[in-house]
Amino acid sequence: MQQYEGKAKRVTVRDDGDVEIYYKDDATAFNGQKHELFAGKGALNSQIAERLLVYLQQRGTPTHHVQRLDDRTLLAKRVKIFPLEVVVRFKVAGSLAKRTGLPDNTVCAPPIVETYYKRDDLGDPIVNDDHIRLLGIATPADVLTLRRMALKAALDLKALCDKAEIDLVDLKLEFGQSGAGILLADEVSPDTCRFRDKKTGSSLDKDVFRQGKGDLLSGYREVLQRFEKALAEVVRA
Ligand code: TMP
Repeated sequence: MQQYEGKAKRVTVRDDGDVEIYYKDDATAFNGQKHELFAGKGALNSQIAERLLVYLQQRGTPTHHVQRLDDRTLLAKRVKIFPLEVVVRFKVAGSLAKRTGLPDNTVCAPPIVETYYKRDDLGDPIVNDDHIRLLGIATPADVLTLRRMALKAALDLKALCDKAEIDLVDLKLEFGQSGAGILLADEVSPDTCRFRDKKTGSSLDKDVFRQGKGDLLSGYREVLQRFEKALAEVVRA
């Protein structure tokens, strides 16, 4: 069986063509330079990702998610991943603060959509539509689709975050090509989104690890609890 070892997940391709995505306890930052294990992180992240992918699917974004297999493994459709990270930003933080000099938390209205070339050896550089055409990694029509899908998913996630008293600062999405068209793939979790408490502004995501500022998993547990409550309200409404 084919296996792909990622920094935080292990992907196994099954004979039926689906993939098993095992969420590991590893946290990495700065292109893998910082690395630590957090017992229970994989299970927590798989639960958050499952809930958010199902929610986005229900709101009309096609995703690769199929079903849960065990406490830290999700079954997904096999896709050919575009080697692009699509980042949607509602507020300035992280690399955008560094690139522009704007203060953290400056509102981006309208939201900003960026594309990064997934190449660890190059440090995942930001690329524009012309670079993507030059590289031949997605057609101009596909890039438009990715940007449109990313923005819709981001706005739907922001609506859920608002209900959960979470400030969605930014998020990173990945997409893949399947027989049934382009699907949202990979994960949506505190590893890939900046979630901050609306009242206090404190980070409930991987920034806690990136910046070494406290207990990573207590934030992840808080995010899961708040999303569960907000999703129950969405179902009742
Ligand atoms: P950035 O500010 O470092 O560019 O990150 C933007 C968003 O993308 C943030 O929510 C964290 C997420 N992200 C990933 O999921 N993987 C990555 O490798 C990087 C650099 C960022």
